[in-house]
Amino acid sequence: DDAYLVTHGLASDTLSRLRSVETEQVAFRKGLVKLGRLCGYEIIDGRMETEYVEIETPLEPTMGERVKGLDDVVIINVLRAATPFVEGLLKAFPRARQGVISASRDESGGRAEDGSFPITIDYVKLPEITEDDTVIVADPMLATGSTMNAVLDHVVENAPEPEHLIVLSAVSAPEGLLRVGDAFPQADLLTVSIDDYLDDDGYIVPGLGDAGDRAFR
Ligand code: PRP
Repeated sequence: DDAYLVTHGLASDTLSRLRSVETEQVAFRKGLVKLGRLCGYEIIDGRMETEYVEIETPLEPTMGERVKGLDDVVIINVLRAATPFVEGLLKAFPRARQGVISASRDESGGRAEDGSFPITIDYVKLPEITEDDTVIVADPMLATGSTMNAVLDHVVENAPEPEHLIVLSAVSAPEGLLRVGDAFPQADLLTVSIDDYLDDDGYIVPGLGDAGDRAFR
C-alpha cells in the first residue's frame, strides 16, 4: 500500500503545464491525455512483467520480448475528470476493458469530522474482472480520498483479488493517500505529484484547480 511517484520528466513537465492558470480548456484536456499515456507507460515499466517469446521475422526466427498481461487490463473511469486521462491510458493499453463510475463529492454540508466528504454514486458499470486482471482506477485528483474509497468499494465487491489493483492520480494530497491506503492496503497508489495540503474546502494546494471544470466547462 505504498505510494509511488511517476517520475518521468515528461510527466512532470506535462503536469506543470496543467497547473498553470494560463492553460485553457483544449490544452488542458490534451495535457491530461498526454499524462494518462505517460502514466500507462510507467505502469507497464514498473508493475508488469515481460516474457521472452519466439518471433518469426520475415527473415528468420528470433527471441522477442512481450509484456505479460497486456490483454488483461481493466481501466475504471471515475467521471468526469478522468475521461481525458483514461483516453491517454488507452494509448498504452489499447485492448483494456473499461468500467465507468460516476461519483461526486457532496460539498453542501462541508467536510465530516474525519475530513472526508459524503459521496454520491449515480452510475456504476463494470466489466467482469478476474484474478488475472490489472485493474487501474483513474482519477486525476485524489483530494480527501473519499471519492476513491467509494469507487474502490464497488470495484472490490466485483473483484476481490485482482492481480494488481492500481489507484492512479495526477495530483494527490497526503491525507487522501493515507485514507485510501488505510482502507485498501492491497492497492498500489500511483501519482505524479504529492502536493502540500488540502484547504478547508477540500481543494488540493497548490493542485491544479477543479480538473473537471477546466477540462469540460
Ligand atoms: C473531484 C475529482 C475527484 C474528487 C477528488 O471530482 O475529480 O473525483 O473530486 O476529491 P476527494 O478525493 O476529496 O473525493 P468532483 O466531485 O468535483 O466531480 P467532477 O469530476 O465531476 O468535477
